[in-house]
Amino acid sequence: MREALARCATLTVVVGLVFLAVLVARREATPSRPLAVRDGPATAGATESNPADPLTVSPEQSARGAVLFASLDCRSCHSLGDEGNPGLPLDDVGQRRDREQILAWITGTGVAAAELSPAARRRKATYQTVAQEDLKALAAFLSLQRTPPP
Ligand code: HEC
Repeated sequence: MREALARCATLTVVVGLVFLAVLVARREATPSRPLAVRDGPATAGATESNPADPLTVSPEQSARGAVLFASLDCRSCHSLGDEGNPGLPLDDVGQRRDREQILAWITGTGVAAAELSPAARRRKATYQTVAQEDLKALAAFLSLQRTPPP
């Protein structure tokens, strides 16, 4: 009886150790996320399931995107906050679309191509010549816009 108990205890310890080892190994195998960069309430509402993942947008990229949004005259058709054309607000676009989709909508390609009017598509096609890094910054900036339009 004693021997059986001792064997049982040993087995429990061994199984426990193996379990712990597996846990540690799995944790080490999971790559850690880039450091979270949050810039105020714009990122509120970010969820794990949203592929826009604003946690990977750096403040520099976001700032660059904001400047581009103004200099590329996106506000002639779109508004952000209380500035620009209120017909097509982008205040909550980050909640509805991920960065890849936003990129397609900026340039009128991919999923956006079929849905835009020919005139809008022509105008958006002019953005295809913008440097890729700038387009990415613009999309990153827009992915942080997560407040319902005023
Ligand atoms: C000539 C007008 C026009 C200009 C200029 C314009 N857009 Fe658009 N954009 C549109 C139209 C039209 C749509 C489609 C709106 C819709 O279907 O809800 C759209 C859609 C979008 C969308 C998707 C919006 C959504 O609600 O899903 C994004 C993002 C976007 N544009 C970004 C930009 C950016 C960034 C710029 C400047 C680089 C820009 N647009 C310039 C007309 C324009």
